[in-house]
Order: sequence, then structure tokens, then C-alpha cells
Amino acid sequence: MRKLSVALVAVVVVVGGLWAGSRSKPAVTIDPQALAAPGNAARGEYLARAGDCMACHTAKGGAPFAGGVPLATPLGAVYSTNITPDKAHGIGDWSFDDFVLAMREGVTPKGRHLYPAMPYTSYAKVSDADLKDLYAYFTNQVAASPQPNTPADIPWPLNLRWPLAYWNRVFHDDARFKSDDAHSVEWNRGAYLVQGLAHCGTCHTPRGVGFQEVDLSGLSVRYLSGAKIDGSAPVNLRGDKGVGLGDWKEEDIVALLKTGRNAHSAVTGPMGEVVEHSTQHLSDADLHAIAVYLKSLTPASTDAAAPAYKADDATLTAIMTGHANDVGSRIYIDSCAACHRQNGEGAARVFPSLANNPSVLAEHPDSLIAVILAGSRLPSTASAPAPLAMPPFAWRYDDDEVAQLATFVRSAWGNHASAVSADDVKRVRAQMGLEAKR
Ligand code: HEC
Ligand code: HEC
Ligand code: HEC
Repeated sequence: MRKLSVALVAVVVVVGGLWAGSRSKPAVTIDPQALAAPGNAARGEYLARAGDCMACHTAKGGAPFAGGVPLATPLGAVYSTNITPDKAHGIGDWSFDDFVLAMREGVTPKGRHLYPAMPYTSYAKVSDADLKDLYAYFTNQVAASPQPNTPADIPWPLNLRWPLAYWNRVFHDDARFKSDDAHSVEWNRGAYLVQGLAHCGTCHTPRGVGFQEVDLSGLSVRYLSGAKIDGSAPVNLRGDKGVGLGDWKEEDIVALLKTGRNAHSAVTGPMGEVVEHSTQHLSDADLHAIAVYLKSLTPASTDAAAPAYKADDATLTAIMTGHANDVGSRIYIDSCAACHRQNGEGAARVFPSLANNPSVLAEHPDSLIAVILAGSRLPSTASAPAPLAMPPFAWRYDDDEVAQLATFVRSAWGNHASAVSADDVKRVRAQMGLEAKR
């Protein structure tokens, strides 16, 4: 799959690039009123959190926003850049127009095209006024760091950047967010955040042959319908029951984004970082707006025959009466039931429920496998400071045992999701560099 996409991207990029052949900078248009008003750096700091600039631009243990974080793309790793006000390595010399050009068109003042690993495809939706505040924050409040940038690990000729102009022509729509009068002010605020700064689709929308998000405007049912990332599975955020958020209430979404957990579920992997660095810092009004917007998204699946979740006590009865003798159930009873309970329901806000949980039921089983192998630690948030943790099991069970356990969890208590194979477990174990059973 990876080889195929590399080949496809290579063909598109090289052929397309020859055709495009343009190195000219796209023009930016800025509302003169927004230009006249001074930017508000304090609001800019809030917006930088909403946009989670930190997640990609701050390396572990590194200076804030000094870049150097590797991001995997189908062509090789790309490193985020220094966006502190340092004049030599950062954006200290950039005008507001330069900043707008990078944020909306993915082009730097020297005409260098950025890889879309920088989500300018979402940030293009951000208003002039919000970009002005972000610019004020980055140029006035962030400390300058002299850290030089790291070149991408992409081999020649794929590392030539001019073909990205062609990619942009085909895949990038640089239009601003347009509010929809058919919906409430709150819905529009939620749509603006989700599609724009919060760039939820970067992870939650499936990608096409050019590695582009298949929908960035929320117009089709593929928008936020769930995706595959190596070693995790950003779930379907649409109205599907079971695999999506169809059974969640607005308050469930707000609680998850604010505290990393709610009555049924808890965040793991990359979503834990989103909560820690970004969504826990958003105002209640903005989190509500996001929830209102997500709850308005229709189910991705039009398959009326798709099995809806229906609680079923057969699993519990089998466990209680000593009839749960297969490998998967036995491991569950030994290693999982103490916390997640025999009925799979866990304990509200402490141990997530494994019944009717989108990240257990997701078509792509990587999140479930990753959690079993590596364990997980809930992010510590201001409103729920005690971090709860799940222990890792990579060294205790082999690939086949983990596959049988995962298959059991995906089919117990009324869950209906496909079986997990030992090959899936092997792949995730290798990707995460985890040890084998001792
Ligand atoms: C998903 C990861 C990701 C997020 C989130 C992200 N960036 Fe980036 N950004 C990158 C990467 C990667 C690059 C470098 C791309 C390249 O070199 O082609 C980059 C480049 C940039 C550049 C160009 C800098 C230069 O010197 O070339 C600017 C400006 C920038 N980002 C600003 C921001 C701001 C502001 C935010 C938050 C609103 C943000 N980015 C969020 C990944 C990200
Ligand atoms: C960096 C990638 C990334 C970004 C950006 C991201 N998510 Fe996620 N999200 C994930 C992954 C991976 C999962 C699956 C793991 C899990 O369930 O916690 C997930 C899970 C979720 C869940 C279900 C949690 C559960 O326990 O079932 C919700 C709700 C969610 N994300 C909402 C959002 C919203 C809203 C945004 C934008 C504000 C967003 N996500 C942005 C990666 C991401
Ligand atoms: C010591 C208590 C404990 C044990 C034992 C335990 N877990 Fe967990 N589990 C947790 C906690 C706490 C979380 C939330 C962690 C997080 O979200 O980062 C969690 C999260 C999960 C999740 C993610 C749920 C979601 O909403 O995304 C899954 C799946 C899971 N556990 C499955 C299992 C399985 C299968 C076993 C047995 C191999 C197991 N757990 C054993 C405490 C435990």
C-alpha cells in the first residue's frame, strides 16, 4: 500500500509539475479593515491552542515553537519549522502578508512551497482577524529561538518542491469559511473551528491517492468519517451509531474534549495529545459549538442493514457461569476485567466502557491493538488532574493471543466488529517498536 501510494504520488507530482511549471507566488487578499486593526496577542495565544500549533512545532524537551518535529508523509519524513520570531531561522522578518501566505497557500516569502503536512489546507478557512491575532502572538509574545531548521528526509527528485504548486492546484481550495444562514450562530462557530483552526479532518477524514483529505468542507459524508493512521485509528465523528458518535450526547463530546474522558469513553494515543495541548484549553462555549456541529453530521454509512448496537448479556452470563473458555475470554477475565469489569462497562470517568465504544468498534483495529500492547495514560487536564493509566501487555501476550483477545472484545456484550488477525497485531507491534512476549 505504501509503495503504491509513493509511486502514485511520484507520478502525479512529476508529470503534474512539468505541466504546472509555475514558481510564481499566489496573491493574498486581506480585508483592509482587519489590516488596520492591531492584532490581539492574548487572543492569538488562545487561537494558537485551538490550532494546536504546539503539537507539531514544539519538539519534546525543545524550545516552544522552535520546530524540528518529524512528521511522516508517504514520501518520507518532513520536519516542522521554527516559527518563533528569530530573524535568521524563524519568522522574525516576516510581514503579516508573508504569514497569511504561508497559513493559507502553504508558500513562504521566498516562494518555497510547504508540504501539506502543515495543515494550510484547513487554515485557509481562518478569518483575517484571527490570523492577525495569531501573527501578533507569534511575533510579540513567543520567545525567539535560534534553532536551525532540519531538511526533509525525502530523496531526490521527490524532494523538489515546485511540483507542490500543482498539488495545490488540484487539491487545495484556499477559500475562507463561509457561514451558512440555515444554521445557528453556534453551529457556524463549531463548523468554523472544526474545519479551520482545529483541523479535526487532518486525522479524522480519509485520504485519497494524492494523500489529500477527501473532503475539507464538510459537504460529503466522507468528511470526518474516520481514517487509518499507522498504529491508530481516528474514529468516525459522524452520526453513525456504534462506530461513530450517533449514541453520544453533546455533553459527552464536550466532556471528552475538556477532560479526555466521559461516561463511556477515554482518549488514547494521538487524541490524548490533542486534548492535552489543544481542546482542554478551549472555552465551554467553543466546545459546545464544536459538539453542536459534530452532532449535526449525518451518518457516513447509508447501509440500513448495518447492525446497530444492542446490549447483550450472553457474554456476562458465559463469564459468570464458567462457560467462557476460549483464549480471548480467558485473557479478558485474567487481565482486563478487574478494571473494565465483566460486563465490559468499566466505571464512569475512571475506566472506559469497552461496549459500544467507537474506538473499539472502528473498522480499522489499530487503536485497540495499540492500547492493549502499549497501555495508555489519560492526559492530565486542568479539570481532571489525576492521570489514570492502563498497563501495557506487549510482553505478556503474543500476537495470536492479543488477536484473540481483541476479537473477543470486538464481539462481546453486543459489539459487532470484524475479527482481528495475528498479522494485524504483528504489524502494529513492529510499527510501535514494542517488545515481544517474554
Ligand atoms: C499537523 C502538524 C502541524 C500543525 C498542527 C501546524 N503546523 Fe505549521 N508546519 C508544519 C510543518 C511540517 C511545516 C514545514 C513544512 C515544510 O517544510 O514543507 C510547517 C510550517 C509552518 C510555517 C512556515 C515556516 C517556515 O519558516 O517555512 C508556518 C508559518 C507555520 N507552520 C505556522 C503554523 C501555525 C501558526 C500553526 C498553528 C495555527 C501551525 N503551523 C500548525 C506542521 C504543522
Ligand atoms: C493528531 C490526530 C488527531 C486530531 C488532529 C484529532 N483527533 Fe480525534 N482522535 C484521533 C485518534 C487517533 C482517535 C482514536 C483514539 C481514541 O479513541 O482516543 C481519536 C478519537 C476521537 C474521539 C473519540 C474518542 C473515544 O474515546 O472514542 C473524538 C470524539 C474525537 N477524536 C474528536 C476530535 C475532534 C473534535 C477533533 C478536532 C478538534 C479531533 N478529534 C482531532 C486523532 C486525532
Ligand atoms: C489497571 C486497570 C486497567 C486494566 C487491567 C486494563 N485497562 Fe484498559 N484502560 C484503563 C484505563 C484507565 C484506560 C483509559 C486510559 C486512556 O484513555 O489513556 C483504559 C483504556 C482502554 C481502552 C481504550 C478505550 C477508549 O475509549 O478509547 C481499551 C480498548 C482498553 N482499555 C482495553 C483493555 C483490555 C483489552 C485490557 C486487558 C488486556 C485492559 N484494557 C486492561 C484501565 C485498565
